[in-house]
Amino acid sequence: MIDWNRLIESARTAQANAYARFSNFKVGAALLASDGVVFTGCNVENSSYGLTMCAERTALFNAVSSGKRQFVALAVYTESTPPARPCGACRQALFEFCPEIEIACVNSEGAIDKFNLRNLLPEGFRL
Ligand code: THU
Repeated sequence: MIDWNRLIESARTAQANAYARFSNFKVGAALLASDGVVFTGCNVENSSYGLTMCAERTALFNAVSSGKRQFVALAVYTESTPPARPCGACRQALFEFCPEIEIACVNSEGAIDKFNLRNLLPEGFRL
């Protein structure tokens, strides 16, 4: 059973570290590995705009860098209404490791929209 409250709280906490000086759009993400460990990430922008990294991929790469490869749930926290969905690049990055992952898009008003990555990315690329 996924502890969504814990995961959402982790994403909310991660959002506080967002480095979003250009867009001012702060994103926090929390990724639950199959062994119960939670990895977080925030968006990190750059003066060279195209180098910006999304919160979801920051969390994913953080987890993979720590040796994890199996994930069961992701929470994405923003201030937007409806809650922001993961971008296409992040969907594909997640698809590599966890095509069936459950994703909760949440916001500061308490909205929670849940998806499965299969629905967000029906035909992902895989070698
Ligand atoms: N962003 C994310 O962190 N995740 C997404 O799925 C979409 C966009 C960030 C990137 C950039 O810093 C800001 O949101 C505005 O695009």
